[in-house]
Amino acid sequence: MEPLEIGRIEQELEKLLSDTAQALSKADQPVAVEEIRVKTLGRRGGLNQFFNLLGQGVLTAEEKGRLGQKLNAVKQKLEQAIQERQKKLDKTAGARASVSEDPTLPGILPQGGRLHPISQTILEILTIFQEIGFSVVEGFEGETEFHNFDALNIPPEHPSRTESFDTFYLAKERDAEPSRLLRSHTSPMQIRFMQGRQPPFRIVVPGRVFRPDAVDASHCFQFHQIEGLAVAPGLTFGDLKGVLTVWARGMFGSQTRLRFRPHYFPFTEPSAEVDLACIFCAGKGCRVCGQKGWLEILGCGTVHPAVFKAVGYPVGTIGFAFGMGVERIAMLKFGIEDIRLFFENDLRFLQQFP
Ligand code: PHE
Repeated sequence: MEPLEIGRIEQELEKLLSDTAQALSKADQPVAVEEIRVKTLGRRGGLNQFFNLLGQGVLTAEEKGRLGQKLNAVKQKLEQAIQERQKKLDKTAGARASVSEDPTLPGILPQGGRLHPISQTILEILTIFQEIGFSVVEGFEGETEFHNFDALNIPPEHPSRTESFDTFYLAKERDAEPSRLLRSHTSPMQIRFMQGRQPPFRIVVPGRVFRPDAVDASHCFQFHQIEGLAVAPGLTFGDLKGVLTVWARGMFGSQTRLRFRPHYFPFTEPSAEVDLACIFCAGKGCRVCGQKGWLEILGCGTVHPAVFKAVGYPVGTIGFAFGMGVERIAMLKFGIEDIRLFFENDLRFLQQFP
Protein backbone atom coordinates (compact mmCIF):
# COMPACT_ATOMS: atom_id res chain seq x y z
CA MET A 1 0.00 0.00 0.00
CA GLU A 2 1.22 3.45 -0.87
CA PRO A 3 2.44 5.44 2.05
CA LEU A 4 -0.41 7.64 3.20
CA GLU A 5 -0.17 11.32 3.06
CA ILE A 6 -2.40 12.99 5.56
CA GLY A 7 -2.57 16.05 3.35
CA ARG A 8 -3.99 14.05 0.44
CA ILE A 9 -6.54 12.38 2.68
CA GLU A 10 -7.65 15.74 3.89
CA GLN A 11 -8.08 16.88 0.32
CA GLU A 12 -10.18 13.85 -0.43
CA LEU A 13 -12.35 14.56 2.57
CA GLU A 14 -12.91 18.13 1.37
CA LYS A 15 -13.89 16.75 -2.01
CA LEU A 16 -16.33 14.34 -0.36
CA LEU A 17 -17.88 17.31 1.43
CA SER A 18 -18.25 19.44 -1.68
CA ASP A 19 -19.48 16.51 -3.83
CA THR A 20 -22.07 15.69 -1.22
CA ALA A 21 -23.20 19.30 -0.96
CA GLN A 22 -23.66 19.39 -4.72
CA ALA A 23 -25.54 16.11 -4.82
CA LEU A 24 -27.78 17.27 -1.98
CA SER A 25 -28.66 20.49 -3.79
CA LYS A 26 -29.94 18.38 -6.66
CA ALA A 27 -31.83 15.90 -4.49
CA ASP A 28 -35.50 16.92 -4.68
CA GLN A 29 -37.06 13.79 -3.19
CA PRO A 30 -36.62 12.41 0.35
CA VAL A 31 -35.48 9.07 -1.16
CA ALA A 32 -32.68 10.82 -3.03
CA VAL A 33 -31.45 12.41 0.21
CA GLU A 34 -31.59 9.05 1.95
CA GLU A 35 -29.51 7.54 -0.84
CA ILE A 36 -26.85 10.18 -0.32
CA ARG A 37 -26.89 9.56 3.41
CA VAL A 38 -26.28 5.84 2.90
CA LYS A 39 -23.53 6.54 0.37
CA THR A 40 -21.61 8.88 2.66
CA LEU A 41 -22.46 7.98 6.26
CA GLY A 42 -23.68 4.40 5.89
CA ARG A 43 -21.73 1.41 7.16
CA ARG A 44 -20.19 0.89 3.77
CA GLY A 45 -20.32 4.56 2.96
CA GLY A 46 -17.51 6.79 1.81
CA LEU A 47 -16.63 8.24 5.19
CA ASN A 48 -16.22 4.86 6.85
CA GLN A 49 -13.37 3.98 4.49
CA PHE A 50 -11.44 6.82 6.07
CA PHE A 51 -12.39 5.78 9.60
CA ASN A 52 -11.10 2.30 8.75
CA LEU A 53 -7.66 3.78 8.13
CA LEU A 54 -7.43 4.62 11.81
CA GLY A 55 -7.40 0.95 12.75
CA GLN A 56 -5.04 -0.32 10.06
CA GLY A 57 -1.82 0.54 11.88
CA VAL A 58 -0.47 2.59 9.01
CA LEU A 59 -0.61 5.92 10.78
CA THR A 60 1.47 7.36 13.55
CA ALA A 61 -0.25 8.26 16.78
CA GLU A 62 0.04 11.91 15.88
CA GLU A 63 -1.43 11.34 12.41
CA LYS A 64 -4.24 9.26 13.93
CA GLY A 65 -5.13 12.12 16.26
CA ARG A 66 -5.15 14.64 13.44
CA LEU A 67 -7.14 12.46 11.07
CA GLY A 68 -9.57 11.42 13.79
CA GLN A 69 -10.42 15.03 14.53
CA LYS A 70 -10.80 15.82 10.86
CA LEU A 71 -13.06 12.80 10.27
CA ASN A 72 -15.35 13.73 13.15
CA ALA A 73 -15.64 17.28 11.89
CA VAL A 74 -16.45 16.07 8.36
CA LYS A 75 -18.96 13.58 9.71
CA GLN A 76 -20.71 16.32 11.63
CA LYS A 77 -20.81 18.58 8.58
CA LEU A 78 -22.24 15.81 6.41
CA GLU A 79 -24.91 14.97 8.97
CA GLN A 80 -25.90 18.58 9.26
CA ALA A 81 -26.08 19.14 5.49
CA ILE A 82 -28.18 16.01 4.99
CA GLN A 83 -30.53 16.97 7.82
CA GLU A 84 -31.03 20.47 6.47
CA ARG A 85 -31.86 19.21 3.01
CA GLN A 86 -34.30 16.73 4.48
CA LYS A 87 -36.06 19.47 6.45
CA LYS A 88 -36.35 21.71 3.43
CA LEU A 89 -37.96 18.95 1.40
CA ASP A 90 -40.39 18.22 4.24
CA LYS A 91 -41.45 21.86 4.26
CA THR A 92 -42.16 22.06 0.54
CA ALA A 93 -44.02 18.77 0.77
CA GLY A 94 -46.11 20.33 3.53
CA ALA A 95 -46.72 23.40 1.43
CA ARG A 96 -47.76 21.22 -1.50
CA ALA A 97 -50.11 19.20 0.72
CA SER A 98 -51.83 22.35 1.91
CA VAL A 99 -52.56 23.33 -1.69
CA SER A 100 -55.26 20.62 -1.66
CA GLU A 101 -56.92 22.53 1.17
CA ASP A 102 -57.52 25.62 -0.94
CA PRO A 103 -59.13 28.14 1.43
CA THR A 104 -60.62 30.05 -1.48
CA LEU A 105 -62.83 27.11 -2.47
CA PRO A 106 -66.50 27.50 -1.50
CA GLY A 107 -67.37 25.79 1.78
CA ILE A 108 -69.45 22.65 2.11
CA LEU A 109 -73.01 23.69 2.87
CA PRO A 110 -74.64 21.86 5.74
CA GLN A 111 -77.79 20.11 4.52
CA GLY A 112 -80.64 22.53 4.96
CA GLY A 113 -84.20 21.57 5.65
CA ARG A 114 -86.99 22.40 3.26
CA LEU A 115 -90.74 22.33 3.20
CA HIS A 116 -92.46 19.02 2.57
CA PRO A 117 -94.39 19.04 -0.74
CA ILE A 118 -97.64 18.82 1.24
CA SER A 119 -96.68 21.88 3.30
CA GLN A 120 -95.70 23.68 0.09
CA THR A 121 -99.08 22.85 -1.43
CA ILE A 122 -100.97 23.96 1.69
CA LEU A 123 -99.09 27.26 1.72
CA GLU A 124 -99.77 27.85 -1.95
CA ILE A 125 -103.49 27.16 -1.54
CA LEU A 126 -103.76 29.35 1.57
CA THR A 127 -101.84 32.23 -0.01
CA ILE A 128 -104.35 32.53 -2.84
CA PHE A 129 -107.28 32.57 -0.43
CA GLN A 130 -105.51 35.12 1.77
CA GLU A 131 -105.10 37.35 -1.26
CA ILE A 132 -108.89 37.44 -1.64
CA GLY A 133 -109.57 38.21 1.99
CA PHE A 134 -109.71 34.86 3.79
CA SER A 135 -108.05 34.40 7.21
CA VAL A 136 -106.28 31.20 8.18
CA VAL A 137 -107.38 29.41 11.35
CA GLU A 138 -106.63 25.94 12.66
CA GLY A 139 -108.77 23.47 14.58
CA PHE A 140 -108.10 20.32 16.58
CA GLU A 141 -107.19 16.86 15.33
CA GLY A 142 -109.03 15.27 18.24
CA GLU A 143 -112.71 16.25 18.09
CA THR A 144 -116.07 15.62 19.72
CA GLU A 145 -118.88 13.79 17.93
CA PHE A 146 -120.86 16.97 18.28
CA HIS A 147 -118.40 19.10 16.28
CA ASN A 148 -117.45 16.41 13.77
CA PHE A 149 -121.02 15.15 13.12
CA ASP A 150 -124.08 16.38 15.05
CA ALA A 151 -123.60 20.11 14.60
CA LEU A 152 -122.86 19.50 10.92
CA ASN A 153 -126.26 17.92 10.45
CA ILE A 154 -124.82 14.42 10.13
CA PRO A 155 -127.36 12.18 11.89
CA PRO A 156 -126.32 9.30 14.19
CA GLU A 157 -127.32 6.69 11.58
CA HIS A 158 -125.14 8.23 8.85
CA PRO A 159 -122.68 5.62 7.50
CA SER A 160 -119.67 7.90 8.00
CA ARG A 161 -120.27 7.62 11.76
CA THR A 162 -119.80 3.87 11.75
CA GLU A 163 -116.91 2.79 13.91
CA SER A 164 -113.94 1.36 12.01
CA PHE A 165 -115.70 2.14 8.75
CA ASP A 166 -115.24 5.85 8.35
CA THR A 167 -114.13 7.15 11.73
CA PHE A 168 -111.41 6.51 14.32
CA TYR A 169 -113.05 6.76 17.75
CA LEU A 170 -110.88 7.42 20.80
CA ALA A 171 -111.20 5.24 23.88
CA LYS A 172 -113.18 6.83 26.71
CA GLU A 173 -111.77 7.01 30.22
CA ARG A 174 -115.24 7.29 31.78
CA ASP A 175 -118.57 6.28 30.23
CA ALA A 176 -120.10 9.66 30.99
CA GLU A 177 -117.55 11.41 28.76
CA PRO A 178 -118.71 12.56 25.34
CA SER A 179 -117.37 10.42 22.49
CA ARG A 180 -114.17 11.72 21.05
CA LEU A 181 -112.63 10.87 17.72
CA LEU A 182 -109.93 11.81 15.27
CA ARG A 183 -111.64 14.31 12.99
CA SER A 184 -112.65 12.77 9.69
CA HIS A 185 -112.71 16.16 7.95
CA THR A 186 -111.84 19.79 8.71
CA SER A 187 -115.53 20.84 8.74
CA PRO A 188 -115.79 20.70 12.58
CA MET A 189 -113.75 23.89 12.62
CA GLN A 190 -116.72 25.58 10.91
CA ILE A 191 -118.64 24.91 14.13
CA ARG A 192 -115.83 25.84 16.53
CA PHE A 193 -115.17 29.10 14.73
CA MET A 194 -118.83 30.14 14.55
CA GLN A 195 -119.44 29.23 18.19
CA GLY A 196 -117.21 32.04 19.31
CA ARG A 197 -117.92 34.73 16.69
CA GLN A 198 -120.46 36.71 14.75
CA PRO A 199 -120.41 37.17 10.96
CA PRO A 200 -119.24 38.53 8.63
CA PHE A 201 -116.05 36.50 8.18
CA ARG A 202 -114.16 34.40 5.65
CA ILE A 203 -111.82 31.66 6.85
CA VAL A 204 -109.74 28.82 5.48
CA VAL A 205 -108.74 25.92 7.73
CA PRO A 206 -105.80 23.66 6.85
CA GLY A 207 -105.27 20.46 8.79
CA ARG A 208 -104.79 16.75 9.04
CA VAL A 209 -107.76 14.41 8.97
CA PHE A 210 -108.10 10.67 9.64
CA ARG A 211 -110.15 7.84 8.19
CA PRO A 212 -109.69 4.08 8.59
CA ASP A 213 -109.04 3.57 4.88
CA ALA A 214 -106.86 0.71 3.65
CA VAL A 215 -103.66 2.21 2.31
CA ASP A 216 -103.20 2.11 -1.47
CA ALA A 217 -101.95 4.42 -4.21
CA SER A 218 -104.75 6.92 -3.63
CA HIS A 219 -105.85 6.27 -0.02
CA CYS A 220 -104.23 6.71 3.34
CA PHE A 221 -105.49 6.64 6.94
CA GLN A 222 -104.37 10.24 7.26
CA PHE A 223 -104.36 13.10 4.80
CA HIS A 224 -104.85 16.85 4.72
CA GLN A 225 -107.79 19.03 3.90
CA ILE A 226 -108.42 22.71 3.55
CA GLU A 227 -111.84 23.89 4.62
CA GLY A 228 -113.36 27.20 3.60
CA LEU A 229 -116.23 29.09 5.19
CA ALA A 230 -117.64 32.52 4.39
CA VAL A 231 -120.63 33.95 6.20
CA ALA A 232 -122.04 37.36 5.34
CA PRO A 233 -125.42 38.86 4.38
CA GLY A 234 -126.16 38.67 0.67
CA LEU A 235 -123.64 35.96 -0.25
CA THR A 236 -124.77 33.80 -3.19
CA PHE A 237 -123.80 30.55 -4.84
CA GLY A 238 -122.32 32.81 -7.52
CA ASP A 239 -119.84 34.20 -4.95
CA LEU A 240 -118.83 30.63 -4.10
CA LYS A 241 -118.24 29.86 -7.78
CA GLY A 242 -116.28 33.07 -8.21
CA VAL A 243 -114.03 32.43 -5.19
CA LEU A 244 -113.27 28.85 -6.23
CA THR A 245 -112.62 29.85 -9.84
CA VAL A 246 -110.18 32.59 -8.77
CA TRP A 247 -108.45 30.07 -6.52
CA ALA A 248 -108.27 27.36 -9.22
CA ARG A 249 -106.82 29.79 -11.77
CA GLY A 250 -104.21 30.97 -9.26
CA MET A 251 -103.32 27.38 -8.53
CA PHE A 252 -103.42 25.74 -11.98
CA GLY A 253 -103.16 28.64 -14.42
CA SER A 254 -105.38 31.35 -15.89
CA GLN A 255 -106.98 29.02 -18.47
CA THR A 256 -108.32 26.65 -15.80
CA ARG A 257 -112.00 25.72 -16.10
CA LEU A 258 -114.23 24.37 -13.33
CA ARG A 259 -117.44 22.36 -13.50
CA PHE A 260 -119.97 22.33 -10.63
CA ARG A 261 -121.91 19.05 -10.38
CA PRO A 262 -124.90 18.72 -8.04
CA HIS A 263 -124.05 16.54 -5.06
CA TYR A 264 -125.12 15.84 -1.49
CA PHE A 265 -123.49 16.87 1.78
CA PRO A 266 -125.52 16.99 5.02
CA PHE A 267 -124.06 20.38 5.97
CA THR A 268 -124.60 22.25 2.69
CA GLU A 269 -127.71 22.75 0.58
CA PRO A 270 -127.50 23.04 -2.34
CA SER A 271 -124.23 21.15 -2.60
CA ALA A 272 -121.85 20.56 -5.47
CA GLU A 273 -118.81 18.60 -6.36
CA VAL A 274 -116.30 20.60 -8.31
CA ASP A 275 -114.30 19.18 -11.20
CA LEU A 276 -111.24 20.71 -12.77
CA ALA A 277 -110.90 20.45 -16.56
CA CYS A 278 -108.07 17.92 -16.76
CA ILE A 279 -104.77 19.82 -16.58
CA PHE A 280 -102.96 17.01 -18.42
CA CYS A 281 -105.17 16.76 -21.54
CA ALA A 282 -107.03 20.11 -21.35
CA GLY A 283 -110.31 18.21 -21.07
CA LYS A 284 -109.80 15.91 -24.07
CA GLY A 285 -109.55 12.73 -22.00
CA CYS A 286 -106.42 10.91 -20.88
CA ARG A 287 -105.15 8.23 -18.50
CA VAL A 288 -105.02 10.58 -15.48
CA CYS A 289 -108.66 11.73 -15.79
CA GLY A 290 -109.82 8.25 -16.82
CA GLN A 291 -110.80 9.57 -20.28
CA LYS A 292 -113.40 11.80 -18.62
CA GLY A 293 -111.65 15.11 -19.24
CA TRP A 294 -112.46 16.20 -15.67
CA LEU A 295 -110.74 15.75 -12.31
CA GLU A 296 -112.79 15.84 -9.14
CA ILE A 297 -111.09 18.16 -6.66
CA LEU A 298 -113.45 19.46 -3.97
CA GLY A 299 -116.87 19.59 -2.38
CA CYS A 300 -118.82 22.75 -1.63
CA GLY A 301 -122.21 24.32 -1.12
CA THR A 302 -124.39 26.86 0.63
CA VAL A 303 -124.29 26.31 4.39
CA HIS A 304 -127.32 24.30 5.56
CA PRO A 305 -129.65 26.21 7.95
CA ALA A 306 -129.35 23.33 10.45
CA VAL A 307 -125.64 24.17 10.84
CA PHE A 308 -126.35 27.81 11.64
CA LYS A 309 -129.03 26.65 14.05
CA ALA A 310 -126.52 24.40 15.85
CA VAL A 311 -124.27 27.40 16.57
CA GLY A 312 -127.15 29.70 17.52
CA TYR A 313 -127.08 31.97 14.47
CA PRO A 314 -130.43 33.52 13.49
CA VAL A 315 -132.63 32.12 10.75
CA GLY A 316 -131.74 33.75 7.44
CA THR A 317 -127.96 33.67 7.99
CA ILE A 318 -126.21 33.08 4.68
CA GLY A 319 -122.87 31.50 3.93
CA PHE A 320 -120.96 29.07 1.76
CA ALA A 321 -118.43 26.36 2.55
CA PHE A 322 -115.99 24.19 0.68
CA GLY A 323 -113.49 21.45 1.45
CA MET A 324 -110.61 20.07 -0.59
CA GLY A 325 -108.06 17.29 -0.21
CA VAL A 326 -104.48 18.58 -0.24
CA GLU A 327 -102.79 15.31 -1.30
CA ARG A 328 -105.03 14.99 -4.33
CA ILE A 329 -104.18 18.55 -5.41
CA ALA A 330 -100.45 18.03 -4.75
CA MET A 331 -100.53 14.81 -6.80
CA LEU A 332 -102.09 16.67 -9.73
CA LYS A 333 -99.82 19.65 -9.35
CA PHE A 334 -96.57 17.64 -9.18
CA GLY A 335 -97.67 14.70 -11.33
CA ILE A 336 -97.33 12.15 -8.50
CA GLU A 337 -99.17 8.86 -8.88
CA ASP A 338 -98.90 7.36 -5.40
CA ILE A 339 -100.07 9.09 -2.20
CA ARG A 340 -97.82 6.86 -0.07
CA LEU A 341 -94.76 8.76 -1.30
CA PHE A 342 -95.84 11.73 0.81
CA PHE A 343 -95.66 9.77 4.04
CA GLU A 344 -92.72 7.41 3.53
CA ASN A 345 -90.04 10.02 4.27
CA ASP A 346 -87.85 8.79 1.44
CA LEU A 347 -85.30 11.55 0.87
CA ARG A 348 -84.85 10.55 -2.77
CA PHE A 349 -88.48 11.62 -3.25
CA LEU A 350 -88.52 14.61 -0.92
CA GLN A 351 -85.32 16.17 -2.27
CA GLN A 352 -86.99 16.67 -5.63
CA PHE A 353 -89.03 19.52 -4.12
CA PRO A 354 -86.69 22.49 -3.75
N1 PHE B 1 -116.22 17.84 4.57
C1 PHE B 1 -116.40 17.39 3.22
C2 PHE B 1 -115.55 16.12 2.99
O1 PHE B 1 -114.70 15.84 3.78
C3 PHE B 1 -116.02 18.44 2.22
C4 PHE B 1 -116.91 19.65 2.24
C5 PHE B 1 -116.63 20.72 3.05
C6 PHE B 1 -118.07 19.70 1.43
C7 PHE B 1 -117.45 21.83 3.09
C8 PHE B 1 -118.88 20.80 1.46
C9 PHE B 1 -118.56 21.87 2.26
O2 PHE B 1 -115.76 15.42 2.03
